[in-house]
Amino acid sequence: MENTKKTILSGIKPTGNLNIGGYLGAVKNWIQMQDEYNCLYCIADLHSLTIRIDPAVVRRNSLELFGLYLACGLDPEKNTIFFQSHVSQHAELSWILNCYTMFGELSRMTQFKDKSAKNAENINAGLFTYPVLMAADILLYQADLVPVGEDQTQHVEICRDIANRFNGIYGDVFTLPEAYTPKVGARVKSLTNPTAKMSKSDDDENGTVNLLDPRDVVIRKFKKAVTDSEACVRFAPGKDGINNLMTIYSAVSGKSFEEIEKEFDGKGYGDFKLAVGEVVADMVAGIQDQYKVYTSDKAQLEAIYRNAADRARYIANKTLTKVYKKVGFVAK
Ligand code: TYM
Repeated sequence: MENTKKTILSGIKPTGNLNIGGYLGAVKNWIQMQDEYNCLYCIADLHSLTIRIDPAVVRRNSLELFGLYLACGLDPEKNTIFFQSHVSQHAELSWILNCYTMFGELSRMTQFKDKSAKNAENINAGLFTYPVLMAADILLYQADLVPVGEDQTQHVEICRDIANRFNGIYGDVFTLPEAYTPKVGARVKSLTNPTAKMSKSDDDENGTVNLLDPRDVVIRKFKKAVTDSEACVRFAPGKDGINNLMTIYSAVSGKSFEEIEKEFDGKGYGDFKLAVGEVVADMVAGIQDQYKVYTSDKAQLEAIYRNAADRARYIANKTLTKVYKKVGFVAK
């Protein structure tokens, strides 16, 4: 019955630790979807090179991320979990798609504009064509759904545009994918700057809670979270800090905003911040326990990702062969 299931592909780049933003925005959905879909998840190591990053850090982050995928609950029997660089078809299809992507549409990408403003000294071509590689990741597997946080939905849109353009010329080669975001947690903000996204690349480490942070660090970060002077736990415009904490609390505990407002009626921000810190600390503690189990067996980890890369390569090669034929390359 495998082939009647729809396909999912998503990924995370190993530029830093996985934080609760990436977890609540993306990975949590992945766990919930593993029974109903054919699921492929990559560690987007090719994508990590758009910033200058120490090779030892790339390697460490990549392996850590792989361990975290498993620790968060992705069953390696049900999901194909692989390193993007192990499947060379990603880079190959990316080149082809580059020739069907317009300079103008890439220039309009919000993330490109933000990142190039922040890294004026290193606006490399990879940063510019980054969405094309992401499109290759998705289209190689004919993915129907791409579960991501809100910041990546524009990249899924451009992927559809590229696929549409290609299909328009060569016939139905690619499935048109759709982004899939969670109702709560699609955009988790920094704890110290709650108008900005919680991000791996944030210079202020108090703004970001990582899945591998120890309990006391998690609690301390939440205690320091920026709030407002109203001293009332309610979701309202202009209360960015509290809105963010309510979002995190709701996404982790499953409680609605109304329930949270009731629970903290008459209580101060100190109590609320501690409660959010506690639920998050409990959540990451469970993930960390699993992380220890998985990462204690290196040989097993290697077997999982090698096997997964073989499976991914097989599917990716089918699509790439079709694309090469369509564009007119002589068969090998
Ligand atoms: P990346 O590594 O920046 O983020 C990984 C995933 O986590 C989500 N996310 C968030 N969600 C909510 N709140 C936040 N603060 C937050 N921060 C991150 C992101 O939306 C993403 O889903 N280009 C991608 C990686 C990638 C990919 C792909 C994704 C490469 N190939 C193919 C989907 C399909 C990226 O940089 O995500």
